[in-house]
Amino acid sequence: MKYKKQYLYSKFERFWHWTQMLLVMLLTFTGFEIHGNFEIMGFENSVRIHSAAAWSFMGLAVVSIFWMIVSKQYLNFIPTTTKLKEQLQYYTSGIFKGRPHPLHKTLYNKLNPLQRIVYAGLLILIFPVQIITGIAYMYYHYPENPIDADGLLLAVNAHTIGAFMVVAFIIVHVYMTTTGHSVSANVKAMISGYEKEPDTENSPEETISKNQ
Ligand code: HEM
Repeated sequence: MKYKKQYLYSKFERFWHWTQMLLVMLLTFTGFEIHGNFEIMGFENSVRIHSAAAWSFMGLAVVSIFWMIVSKQYLNFIPTTTKLKEQLQYYTSGIFKGRPHPLHKTLYNKLNPLQRIVYAGLLILIFPVQIITGIAYMYYHYPENPIDADGLLLAVNAHTIGAFMVVAFIIVHVYMTTTGHSVSANVKAMISGYEKEPDTENSPEETISKNQ
C-alpha cells in the first residue's frame, strides 16, 4: 500500500504532549506515594515534588489553552457522534481483521469520535477536577488546617477518584498508541510531527502538506 505523509503535530503541540505526559506521570507517581500505596521517595519529598509538578501542570494548561484557541486546535477536541458506530466496530472487530482505519486524519480532524469524547472528558472534566480539588487541598488543609478537614473529604475523595481515572486513561492511551498503521507509527508521529496515511488516491508521489 502507498502512503502519503502529512504534517499534523506542530512543535508546540509535541512539546505540550510530552511535557504533559511527564508531569502527569510525576503527579500520578508522587500522588500514589502520598496516598500511601508504596514508599520510594518518602512522603515529604513526594509532597514537594507533587506540588512543583502541579504548578508546572497548571502553567502548561494556561499556555496550552491559549495555543488551542489561537491555532484553532480546540476543534479537534469537540465531541461528535459522526462515525462513532464505525469507530466502535473498528476497535471491537475491524482492527483484528486488518480492516482500514475509518478516520483519515487532517489537521483539524486528527482524533476519531471515541478519542474526541475521551480527551474532552480528560481535558474539561478530569484535569479541572484535579486542579480545583488540588488547590483546595493546598490551601484549606495544609499547613494550619484552617477549616475542619472533614469539609475537605469530598475534595480529597474526588482527587483520588480523578487520579484512578487518570491511571485508566494512561493504560488505554498507551494501548491505543500501538494501533496505528504500525505499532510505533503514532508515537513516531508525535515525535516528528509527520503522520503516514494510506494514500487512497494511489498517487505515486509522497505528498507533504506542511500547514503549520
Ligand atoms: C494528573 C493529575 C493528578 C494526579 C493523578 C494526582 C494524584 C494525587 C493523589 C493520588 C494524591 C493522594 C490523595 C490522598 O491520598 O488523599 C494527591 C494528593 C495531592 N494533590 Fe494531586 N494529583 C494530580 C494533580 C494535582 C494538581 C493539579 C494539584 C494542585 C493544583 C494537586 C495537588 C495535590 C495536593 C496538594 C495533594 C495533597 C498532598 C499532601 O498530602 O500534602 N494534584 N494527588
